[in-house]
Amino acid sequence: MTSLVIRRPDDCHLHLRDETALRAVLPFTATRFARAIVMPNLKPPITTTELALAYRKRILAALPPGVSFEPLMTLYLTDQTTPQEITRAQASGTVHGAKLYPAGATTHSDAGVTDVRRIDAVLERMAEVSMVLQVHGEVTDPDVDMFDREARFIDEVLAPLAERHRTLRVVFEHITTRAAVQFVASGRKGIAATVTPQHLLMNRNALFEGGLRPHHYCLPVLKAEADRAALLAAVAGGSERFFLGTDSAPHARAAKETACGCAGIFSAHAGIELYAEAFEAAGALDKLEGFASCHGADFYGLPRNTGTLTLTREPWEVPQHYPFGADELVPLRAGERIAWRIAAARGAPA
Ligand code: NCD
Ligand code: ZN
Repeated sequence: MTSLVIRRPDDCHLHLRDETALRAVLPFTATRFARAIVMPNLKPPITTTELALAYRKRILAALPPGVSFEPLMTLYLTDQTTPQEITRAQASGTVHGAKLYPAGATTHSDAGVTDVRRIDAVLERMAEVSMVLQVHGEVTDPDVDMFDREARFIDEVLAPLAERHRTLRVVFEHITTRAAVQFVASGRKGIAATVTPQHLLMNRNALFEGGLRPHHYCLPVLKAEADRAALLAAVAGGSERFFLGTDSAPHARAAKETACGCAGIFSAHAGIELYAEAFEAAGALDKLEGFASCHGADFYGLPRNTGTLTLTREPWEVPQHYPFGADELVPLRAGERIAWRIAAARGAPA
């Protein structure tokens, strides 16, 4: 049996939700990852340091006994965010980034930023105090083709923003296209990207495989095979500019299987195992550790974790669903097999 021991990984892009949903999903992440960058798109959103600190406490309180896990908090930027709030967030020591959701781009983004020029003073402060900007990179113009929204965002918003704020560190979140790979790989210093398991393993055909597949719908939406191949080649190449962010985004089954279903794929139940499959397919298992456990920590200026995670190549069948409060949660690969499983996890967060 093949096995692989890696430094304990971090999930650099995760949706944990709150209350019963939080309690349902947190154990999946905490048994795999030592830390996670927790997205702030709750309802209402986490727009202040005070809200972030309170949310962090609720996450820690929801941990199963004996499990150590460090939630790394983020702020949700709005048109009203002030530079002073950024200074407070940085001083707290627990807020590690601020997320730019273009208003209307994705789940719970209606309170997001309507025009990035409105937050230039905030971005300037972020660069000054060295806080990372995390970006959902899609334009929101309904006339722009769904599959072109990321590439358009690079040209119209992200490239000019990165030039206006030359020292700001930017994570282009959950990239999905060859254009994004090229932008990140050839960009100025201080630009990096997270990559999800679904965008490494599936292309847009998976949305229509044997019928309409709501559990393969996320934002940014799955792209063409050439895009998937470019993402896989980028992570398999071992560049420190790319790192793990599952974007695991749980929604109740009823909210997915409906006439107007929510965007989001739940993958935390196999949050490292799915990447092992992708890296194995690319013949690059030796690059998994850098991607999962080193590049993200280094970019955020955090110490690398000291524990280890052991994966073995032993297939298992994913349940059809997991409990999710009064509802059910349908995980990625429900009822199908995943080639890798976790054999052991050791060590607390760094
Ligand atoms: C995320 C969610 O459900 O919060 N959904 C998704 O499809 N990825 C929001 C996001 O990260 O865009
Ligand atoms: Zn997300």
